[in-house]
Amino acid sequence: MSSLLRNFWYMAMPGKQLKPGQMIHKKMLGDPLLVGRTNEGQIFAMRDICPHRGIPLSHGWIEGNAVCCCYHGWKFETEDGRCSEIPSLTSDNNLEIERIKVPVYPAQEVQGNIWVYIPNDPKEKLDLSKISSPPLIPDFGIACPGISETIDFDCNIDHAIIGLMDPAHGPYVHRSWWWRNGPRKFRIKEKAYEPAPFGFRLVPYQMPKSAKPYRLLGKDITIEIVFKLPSYRTELLIGDRYKACAFTAITPIDENHCQLFQSLYWTVPGLVIFKPLLSILTRQFLSEDRDVIIKQQEGLAYDPSLMLIDDCDTQAKWYFRLKQEYLKSLQESREFENPVEPRILQWRS
Ligand code: FES
Ligand SMILES: [Fe+2]
Repeated sequence: MSSLLRNFWYMAMPGKQLKPGQMIHKKMLGDPLLVGRTNEGQIFAMRDICPHRGIPLSHGWIEGNAVCCCYHGWKFETEDGRCSEIPSLTSDNNLEIERIKVPVYPAQEVQGNIWVYIPNDPKEKLDLSKISSPPLIPDFGIACPGISETIDFDCNIDHAIIGLMDPAHGPYVHRSWWWRNGPRKFRIKEKAYEPAPFGFRLVPYQMPKSAKPYRLLGKDITIEIVFKLPSYRTELLIGDRYKACAFTAITPIDENHCQLFQSLYWTVPGLVIFKPLLSILTRQFLSEDRDVIIKQQEGLAYDPSLMLIDDCDTQAKWYFRLKQEYLKSLQESREFENPVEPRILQWRS
């Protein structure tokens, strides 16, 4: 059985990557997709395969509200995927072209990122009123991220997710001078967690005074970290002057590859001049995670049995339990029941 969770919104790309009139091919959860933006700015997504002879529609172009196939010029409406023109037909041909359809996927741009909803069966008509909206970062209105970085991970999404939520790898994997100076000093960490909708969260707490770079946000800073299925992590820092948020979303490309999107939002004025530097640091940090995962694949190729230990791997255990419960609730057509219970986790890092 596939380990990829459908019926969720997944991030496709940062909005700035897709210009009006442009289409981009994306493989998401194994589905070949075309994500596009009409000249009027409307986002859309459809299966990137022409129903005529299978060529990816993304090789074609956008004409008004339709995608035109580059092979024989068939046109498909971006809104519902209906075929609206077959140029080679004569007027007395009685082919009902509107019955030819390309599956469309719900797509939206939210806070500067483009999201696509991946349903269980893309050919089935979706009741849009029944699906939720893409995740929204609270307190940031319609703001676009100051920084957005995309990085490819050549692994199953589960390893990317548990690798990122794992508090014990930090001192070994993230050793850049700007992150950790001097020899490693391990300290006991003790943090309270509780269930959150479709996930869990670090109960908000006040940051210790010593955290220097955070002082930009003010004197008293509260931190809250939320993980939500399928793969969203929001780290919110609310200071008495300003606030900032690091939002991470991971999208499976297929069973063995995924893409991580990191968006940073902030309200601190003047921070834009540090954008290039912040971008480099974010990239470096994420590539450290990616590089260790590449090494891990060498071992995983032998399909070894693996371990999750308490408490540093408890969040990973929760992730697998959330996933399992989600699949079970779908199978049994019942409400999802969050399996996470409030708990204080302790580890050294
Ligand atoms: S293959 Fe697309 S129109 Fe023929
Ligand atoms: Fe990491």
